[in-house]
Amino acid sequence: MNHIRVGIVGLGRLGKIHATNIARNIPGATLQAACSIVEAELEFARNELGVEETYQTFEEMVDSPNVDAVCIVSPSGFHPEQIQLAMEKGLHVFCEKPIGLEIEDIEKTIEVIDNHPDQVFQLGFMRRYDESYQYAKKLVDDGELGELTVIRCYGIDPSSGLESFVKFAGASNSGGLFADMSIHDIDLVRWFSKKEVSRVWAMGKNAAYPELDQVNELETGAAMMQLEDQTMAILVAGRNAAHGYHVETELIGTKGMIRIAAVPEKNLVSVFNENGAVRPTSQNFPERFQQAFQNEMKEFISCIREKRQPEVSAYDGLQSTIVAKACQQSVDTKGLIEIES
Ligand code: NAI
Repeated sequence: MNHIRVGIVGLGRLGKIHATNIARNIPGATLQAACSIVEAELEFARNELGVEETYQTFEEMVDSPNVDAVCIVSPSGFHPEQIQLAMEKGLHVFCEKPIGLEIEDIEKTIEVIDNHPDQVFQLGFMRRYDESYQYAKKLVDDGELGELTVIRCYGIDPSSGLESFVKFAGASNSGGLFADMSIHDIDLVRWFSKKEVSRVWAMGKNAAYPELDQVNELETGAAMMQLEDQTMAILVAGRNAAHGYHVETELIGTKGMIRIAAVPEKNLVSVFNENGAVRPTSQNFPERFQQAFQNEMKEFISCIREKRQPEVSAYDGLQSTIVAKACQQSVDTKGLIEIES
């Protein structure tokens, strides 16, 4: 079978990673086209990755007769319209999280996806493709923990990124802390428990950068949730981890508990020096999830070649955004939010 020819939109922080993977690390895929509004990024695609076709608009790229699939890594607000357009052009679609920022847009997008069942759609919940999360999932599914009672998740970005986040927060709508960051944890809660969230109570505090108040963003947020079977979930999301990139998950069940990355270790090295015994930590998402980003893209290409749909669906995108928005609503109204099933 010929290579799947992929066109990518967005060559920013994450787009460059996906583009490089598709060009170099994903068997059966070719990075055929790239689209960005930044000319220097298109030059990078041409010069560093050998991309033949570069475009300034997504509309032009999806009109190329040489593109079979698109990888959408543009700012989150563009996702629904770009998914719909690509689907209507007959292309397979990989889209970064969140699937969208507004429920109405997402529901319309799902309708379009459902109308094209022979085209693959995959959402970028890459943690499901991380080796440690897959190992933990198997333990949970095999009943090693018994019945789940509590899931605790931390998703905290490094403080090194906070200053630039503060600078650009006004310019690009991330959807807020819960839609931007906790969405991964919300997906993990649903994935591990196989249950939906019934009610949430969330709050937040801006301490290191109070100016985030002005752009309506949170530096640290916390949410408590009850799932439909009364399992509890506790989420902490933030943008100010002094030691690096902290993604940690704990699952407590009737027969035991597990922790994934309780210390977000960079590797197996310990450094012994004047600071004591030091375990270096992951510094950012590209480092921590490097393999997961490749695994999810391999799965996308395999699904196209094998004519099947991946495990992560547009419905998972809808449900996680519903919960993330409920968290934001809870912060805004200072109240408990019930989520309709
Ligand atoms: P970024 O701001 O670094 O890059 C955005 C890119 O989109 C730039 O190349 C920009 O030129 C391009 N762009 C903006 N408007 C455009 C338009 N109208 N047409 C074509 N291109 C346009 O953003 P970043 O951090 O790379 O995030 C992109 C997406 O990836 C977001 O949806 C974000 O939520 C998601 N993301 C997911 C992560 C994960 O852990 N799975 C991690 C980081 C981001």
